[in-house]
Amino acid sequence: MEDVKNHITQLQQAFTQELAETHSLEALEGIRISYLGRQGKIAALMVQLKHATLEEKRILGPLLNTLKAACESALLTKKKQLEELMQSEATQQERYFDVTANIPANQQGSLHIYTHLIEQLENIFISMGFTIVDGPELETDYYNFEALNIPADHPARDLHDTFWLSNPGFLLRTHTSTVQIRSMQTIKPPLALFSTGRCYRNEATDATHEFMFMQGECLLVDTHVSIANVLATAQTFLQRFFEKEDLTIRVRPGYFPFVEPGFEIDASCPFCTQGCSVCKRTRWIELLGAGLVHPHVLQSCSIDPEKYRGFAFGFGLERLAMIKYNITDIRLFHSSKLSFLTQF
Ligand code: PHE
Repeated sequence: MEDVKNHITQLQQAFTQELAETHSLEALEGIRISYLGRQGKIAALMVQLKHATLEEKRILGPLLNTLKAACESALLTKKKQLEELMQSEATQQERYFDVTANIPANQQGSLHIYTHLIEQLENIFISMGFTIVDGPELETDYYNFEALNIPADHPARDLHDTFWLSNPGFLLRTHTSTVQIRSMQTIKPPLALFSTGRCYRNEATDATHEFMFMQGECLLVDTHVSIANVLATAQTFLQRFFEKEDLTIRVRPGYFPFVEPGFEIDASCPFCTQGCSVCKRTRWIELLGAGLVHPHVLQSCSIDPEKYRGFAFGFGLERLAMIKYNITDIRLFHSSKLSFLTQF
């Protein structure tokens, strides 16, 4: 019997010590199982008690029960202590949390350069009294060539490296001049329209060429329209786009079958007066294709060329932006490079 009594005392001491050395709830649970579990040390003693005499049972029984109860209550107290400690550590950590440290990078979105460009251009043309119109990217031979005075055997077709669809007569538009025809068929003159949109040409890509690009197209039809009107409109547009009031333009002859006369408009370099890398030391930058709308084109839209005249000009959006923002590779526009895209 003394043996068992000693054992109980030892157990009590070992338990108290283990408990004191415990610093986590997991370890505490381990102690609970090893002492109070069904296979635990106290349960083992209870089994031993079965073989004891009645007298022994009378003494040892209560001792064991007291031990069990003491262990249970000590475990509970320790559990509460540990939980409180963890709680206060957490609040302590919160209290010393520095809200200015390690701020995660701010991933704010930005407008795509195309959106930004279209917005700028449309604002300029709207301010000059033009209406914004739109046209489809998938077109027919008629709108892209025929109605624009480029019949089937016309050599100018070779200049447009066309993506033909397997469906005969269908193509991806090679320029936004298609919108001239679509608009003049539905809107009666006088009209002043501006359109931007995607165009496609089947050519190899490099830093200045893409098979998919964007054009802007300006069209005005009225009774008294002259070259002076197209020059004034083009110059005003370019001055506003490059935010340079003293920007001037010059005109060179150019050939586009849908205008007569046709010309190319260059702008004075917005960045220099003596020649720089942007204008390749020429002081001029080639920007627009322009002209007075060819009488054939007016006729194909049932507009009387004896009564009405029009002017049109077109340009590549990427080229304008590349000059304005010093972008050196057109392929960046369709890349997913965030370092490029987030600048706008
Ligand atoms: N559509 C022509 C091109 O793609 C540009 C242009 C538009 C020229 C309008 C004259 C008038 O090159």
